[in-house]
Amino acid sequence: MNKKIGGLAGVIAGETAICTVGKEGLGLTYRGYDIRALATSSTFEEVAWLLIYGQLPDRRELQTYREKLMRLREIPAILKQLLEQIPLHTNPMDVLRTACSVLGMLEPEQNTHRAEDIANRLIAVFPGILLYWYHFHQSGNRIHTQSDEETTAGHFLTLLQGDKPNPEWRHVLDVSLILYAEHEFNASTFAARITASTESDFYSAITSGIGTLRGPLHGGANEAAMELISRFKTPDEAERGVRTLLENKEKIMGFGHRVYKISDPRSDIIRPLSQKLSEKAEDGYLFAISERIEALMWQEKHLFPNLDFYSATAYHFCKIPTFFFTPLFVISRITGWSAHILEQRRDNRLIRPAANYIGPASRTYPLMTERA
Ligand code: ACO
Repeated sequence: MNKKIGGLAGVIAGETAICTVGKEGLGLTYRGYDIRALATSSTFEEVAWLLIYGQLPDRRELQTYREKLMRLREIPAILKQLLEQIPLHTNPMDVLRTACSVLGMLEPEQNTHRAEDIANRLIAVFPGILLYWYHFHQSGNRIHTQSDEETTAGHFLTLLQGDKPNPEWRHVLDVSLILYAEHEFNASTFAARITASTESDFYSAITSGIGTLRGPLHGGANEAAMELISRFKTPDEAERGVRTLLENKEKIMGFGHRVYKISDPRSDIIRPLSQKLSEKAEDGYLFAISERIEALMWQEKHLFPNLDFYSATAYHFCKIPTFFFTPLFVISRITGWSAHILEQRRDNRLIRPAANYIGPASRTYPLMTERA
């Protein structure tokens, strides 16, 4: 197949005013603001507001928004019952996908005044859904899904770890949520926009996004990267192992990108945070392993780490179980998906591309008795 057509690489599939990666893949901005400025000076809730409502909130709007998200954290009783029925060994991405679908029935869009409120509800309630399900099956505890934490990052860590979160971990998680929030026409966003373009409901569009993000070539790469890094005990062992994988033509998860060709600016932001956490972590040696893999990948393939590679160790050093890495990506990306669904709806036209047909030429239909 023509490699350019395959995967729609380089094809401009629509217009957006939400995010650009820049013409050369060097200038990632959300609504015109540089990702480095947002990661340094904003919080995730500011970025969520920016993406969903189109501009940065002032101090009062931000405080009101935080309080609103806190009020939206309660899980409906029917959904709790359902979560109790889902086995522990289910992929947590399936839990979120299913929960999103169920919320679409319990709190349908036609009962909601503003579509933005569905986005806010999902950002607020997803940490509780995930961790209610997790703790119920781990220990039988039916946890409270409220916490005193104003930030999504702090709330997630509190529900996971059952205590006031470590401030450094909360900060790193908050930054990672900013970095994961939005990324132009990536696969899951495009899936959400396609669903929105059929005039389907908000929940269906988000569910499409979750299902698309789940794959290891997209959001699932952060879990796959952690699995790879933790196979090794020393940098030398990692170098040997990764060389063998490359010889066997296997992909190294957390490397490469469809748009970026030199580096992923988000990786440059999360990497030093992971390094700092590694200095206090009991298995901080994993950072040196990551660095060796990075050096080898550049030397052998001219490939650089994408956001998923150092997010993996950053999350690990915050004692977040690996199977929650991609769900955290969901919690953040709801903001970007929602902004795109709203944008698609404002000037909608059904997304329905054409295919280059390569099948058999038109032929006569044989009756059953005529088939050999
Ligand atoms: N490991 C080894 N080789 C790789 C990797 C990798 N991670 N990524 C690309 N390559 C190689 C390919 O084998 C291919 O080589 P070839 O031309 O000799 O066949 C070449 O680089 C181009 O790769 P493609 O797969 O054609 O690039 P594409 O743009 O289609 O894919 C993708 C981009 C899917 C991200 C790819 O780099 C990949 O699979 N990476 C690993 C998964 C990953 O980390 N995904 C996360 C993406 S970022 C995010 O979701 C936040």
